[in-house]
Amino acid sequence: MVARRATPDASGSEDAVEQCTPSGGGEASAPLPSGMMLGGFQIQKFLGKGGMAAVYRGIQISLNRPVAIKVLSPRYARDPNLVRRFEREAGALAGLSHPNIVNIIERGEAGGYHYIVLELVEGVTLNHVLHTAELKERHFLRVIEEVGSALAYIHSLGIVHRDVKPSNILVNRQGVVKLSDFGIVLAGEEPEVPSRGSTVGTASYMAPEQRRDPNSVDARADIYSLGVTFYKMFTRQLPGDPYVPPSQLNPSLPPAVDAIVARALQTNPDDRPSSVREFCDDLRRAFEAGREAVGAEAADSPAVVSPLVQMLDSGAERSGAAETGATLDGSAVERGSPVGAAQPSAPVPTVPAHQWLLALVAVGVTVVLITLVLLALRWA
Ligand SMILES: Nc1ncnc2c1ncn2[C@@H]1O[C@H](COP(=O)(O)OP(=O)(O)O)[C@@H](O)[C@H]1O
Ligand SMILES: [Mg+2]
Repeated sequence: MVARRATPDASGSEDAVEQCTPSGGGEASAPLPSGMMLGGFQIQKFLGKGGMAAVYRGIQISLNRPVAIKVLSPRYARDPNLVRRFEREAGALAGLSHPNIVNIIERGEAGGYHYIVLELVEGVTLNHVLHTAELKERHFLRVIEEVGSALAYIHSLGIVHRDVKPSNILVNRQGVVKLSDFGIVLAGEEPEVPSRGSTVGTASYMAPEQRRDPNSVDARADIYSLGVTFYKMFTRQLPGDPYVPPSQLNPSLPPAVDAIVARALQTNPDDRPSSVREFCDDLRRAFEAGREAVGAEAADSPAVVSPLVQMLDSGAERSGAAETGATLDGSAVERGSPVGAAQPSAPVPTVPAHQWLLALVAVGVTVVLITLVLLALRWA
C-alpha cells in the first residue's frame, strides 16, 4: 500500500475527550433527581453521559416499560444551534429502522429540558468492554460487522453518522450491537452551523477531511472511523505516527488484515474502500483465510474466556430471553464486576431424572434400615 495513510491523533484517551462538546459552558449540571417527570416519562437513574447530554434510565408511564431518556444539558439548551443539533438527532433516528440502531420513542421539551426517549439498551458500551473484558477476535469482528450493517443501512439513505467510536456503540445483554448517538449526523439537509468553540466529531476517530470541513463529508468518513475503531479494538491503541500495522501489535490477527485497515485509514477518501460493506467483506475473508491457515480449532481456543465472551457467543440463541438487571450504568460497573453484571442470568442447573430416582431409593433403604435397627433394639 503506497498511498498516504492519515495519522489520527493518538495522543491520549480518545473517549475521555468528547470533542463534540462545546467549549466554555460554565457550571456542570447536577443529574436530574429520580422520580422527576418529563412529559409522560419518569426519570429513574443516571446511566451515562457524553458531550452534550445525560442519559437516564426511566419509565414510560403509559406503557409501564423501561426506556432511556437522553436530556440535553441545560447549559447547552441556551444555544439554538445545539438545540437544533439535538432535534436533528431525533429527526434522523425517527426515519430509521434497523436491528443494530437504537430506536427512538419520543422527543419533547418539559420544564426547559429538551429530551429524547430511546429504546433502553441494557448492557455495556464497547468502550467499557475494551477496558475490562477479554474478547476474542471473532467477537470483535462480529461487533464490526454489526456496526457495519447499521452504517451500510444509513449510508444507503444518504446519512453519515460522523461519530462512530466505541463509546457510541452499545452491546446489549443478548450480545446484539446497537449503534447510538446520532447527535451529529449529516442527513443531506442544511449543513449545521457550528457553535462557537465546538468541533463536530471526536478527533481521534475523525477522518482528516471531517476535521477540515465537517459539512463536506460522505460515507467514507464513517469508514475511516470504523477503521480506527477496528484498530482500537484489536490493539487497544489508537493508530499513531509512526503507524504500526495492527498485526504487529496483536499477533493473533491475520497479517492480511493490515492492508485492509490501512486502506480504511487513507488520508484521501478516494483511496478508502468504496463502501462499508466492502470493508467488512474484505475483513471477513482475511479472517477466514487466517483461520484456515492456523486451523480453526487453534484459532478458537482461548486461554481466558470471560463471561462477556460467553454472552456474545450465545447472543443469537438468547435473543428471545427476557431482559433483566444490568444497564449501561458506569457506576454499577465500578461497584461490582461489570462483565458479570452484563451477563444474562445463569441457567439454573437441572438434575437428571435417574439421579432423583437413585436418591429416593437411597432414602428409602436408609429408612428401612433404621426401622430394622430400632425394632432389633426393642426385641433385644
Ligand atoms: N439507549 C440507551 N440505553 C442505555 N444507555 C444509553 C443509551 N444511549 C446512551 N446511553 C448511555 O449514555 C451515554 C451517552 O449517550 P450518547 O448518546 O453517546 O450522548 P452524547 O450525545 O452526549 O455523547 C452512552 O455512552 C451510554 O453509556
Ligand atoms: Mg456519545
